[in-house]
Amino acid sequence: MAYEFITVHTEADKVGVITLNRPKQLNALNGPLMVELGQALKAFDANEAIGCMIITGSEKAFAAGADIGAMATYSFADVYKNDYITRDWETIRSIRKPVIAAVSGFALGGGCELAMMCDFIIAADNAKFGQPEIKLGIIPGAGGTQRLPRAVGKSKAMDLALTGRMMDANEAEKAGLVSRIVPLDKLMEETLGAALMICGYSQLATMAAKESVNRAFESGLADGVMFERRLFHALFATADQKEGMDAFVNKRPAAFKNA
Ligand code: HXC
Repeated sequence: MAYEFITVHTEADKVGVITLNRPKQLNALNGPLMVELGQALKAFDANEAIGCMIITGSEKAFAAGADIGAMATYSFADVYKNDYITRDWETIRSIRKPVIAAVSGFALGGGCELAMMCDFIIAADNAKFGQPEIKLGIIPGAGGTQRLPRAVGKSKAMDLALTGRMMDANEAEKAGLVSRIVPLDKLMEETLGAALMICGYSQLATMAAKESVNRAFESGLADGVMFERRLFHALFATADQKEGMDAFVNKRPAAFKNA
């Protein structure tokens, strides 16, 4: 499939890599780009050979936010009637296989929100995160006021959303927004390494792990633990559980069949 605002390729026939590709606009996220991103994610999710996906941008910008030029003249009627954001930004929430954000440069506004919609974030040492919408007379609109406090706590989320300042990779890692920081020139190598590691496991187990961790954000502790317990029990019905445990007991590598 030919895309205009993203590029798509696979690594080792197992990892689907999506690169945001509006370099002149620092990968500002417009509607058509988000539609393409959703299509690419869905295609990889449906492809049995793919075990993990990566979303990345350029060295200078993962994405500098929603496209301000496109939004500038929107009226309330436009955004409400057309269900702006909900309509074409949220496909990623329905993706069942793991999605890693490999972030270098700016991840601001909707760019930071997109990174937070991924399952985890690996940041280059030049990454900068922020929710600067307040400077434009608006607030985050793709989940930033909800996911950021869950990731970094109320105080820092308020600081970022109210002052519009950026935080660097070190601050983001210390606060828990990113899982690791790597040198810029190692970003894709390191992220691909993580993705390939995930691809080596049973897809049933990686999907269940993702679903169960995400449940922590949607439910109370007792419900979340019960959800996890049921998925945990269900995995004992899979051939991959038998294979994984037999491989351990017999000191050999496991060969998972996603079954
Ligand atoms: C449209 C953008 C853009 C954006 C940058 N550009 N960010 N265009 N929407 N969000 C464009 C610039 O206009 C410029 O185009 C080119 O990209 C390069 O940007 P510069 O500003 O010249 O680069 P630099 O001086 O390095 O500054 C980088 C920057 C700055 C700090 C990231 O561009 C900036 O502050 N951008 C806006 C960040 C922001 O406010 N994001 C939140 C958007 S609101 P030209 O044609 O002049 O070369 C949002 C709402 C989310 O995301 C809610 C729902 C999703």
